[in-house]
Amino acid sequence: MSSEPVKRCTVDEILELRWRVLRPGRPIESARYEQDVLPETRHWAYRDAEARVVGCVTVQRTPFPGADGPGWQLRGMAVDEDLQGMGIGGDVLVSAVREVAEPIWCNARERAIPFYASHGWTIVSEMFDIPDVGPHKRMVWSP
Ligand SMILES: CC(C)(COP(=O)(O)OP(=O)(O)OC[C@H]1O[C@@H](n2cnc3c(N)ncnc32)[C@H](O)[C@@H]1OP(=O)(O)O)[C@@H](O)C(=O)NCCC(=O)NCCS
Repeated sequence: MSSEPVKRCTVDEILELRWRVLRPGRPIESARYEQDVLPETRHWAYRDAEARVVGCVTVQRTPFPGADGPGWQLRGMAVDEDLQGMGIGGDVLVSAVREVAEPIWCNARERAIPFYASHGWTIVSEMFDIPDVGPHKRMVWSP
């Protein structure tokens, strides 16, 4: 792996990975978020030694649901299936939240809740269903 594997990037650099990991079996356009192209939206990619994108995440300006004022939402957290559980996702997550350095929220898939919790995120909702994706809990992180 390169010495600085996590870097800011464009959505086009990570869309294929996001699609493959998070929206398998659906059209690639289903992996795009409306906010992907807004100027404040930020994307990060983790590249392996061959410069292939194997990890990604996106942070966009979206208020915490039910709250007024600005907020940041983390979305599209994904690691190549063959490389999960090796610390890549943790590196991506830590790089993103350090750079944003403000409170962030996300809808965490049930299976990924322990991953976020191990990086200091807190559960702030009951389990709820996102159609076609599955059960989630809302989680928050603060610097
Ligand atoms: C969740 C995910 C981004 C974590 O990245 P990672 O590189 O696999 O995780 P790390 O190696 O940094 O951390 C390991 C922890 O991640 C979690 N994890 C590992 N594989 C996972 C998987 N397939 N799905 C969900 N969480 C997983 C576990 O809590 C693990 O801790 P453990 O080793 O003590 O059990 C990655 O596994 C993934 O892309 N999963 C599928 C898509 C997904 O669920 N994305 C999150 C949407 S909210």
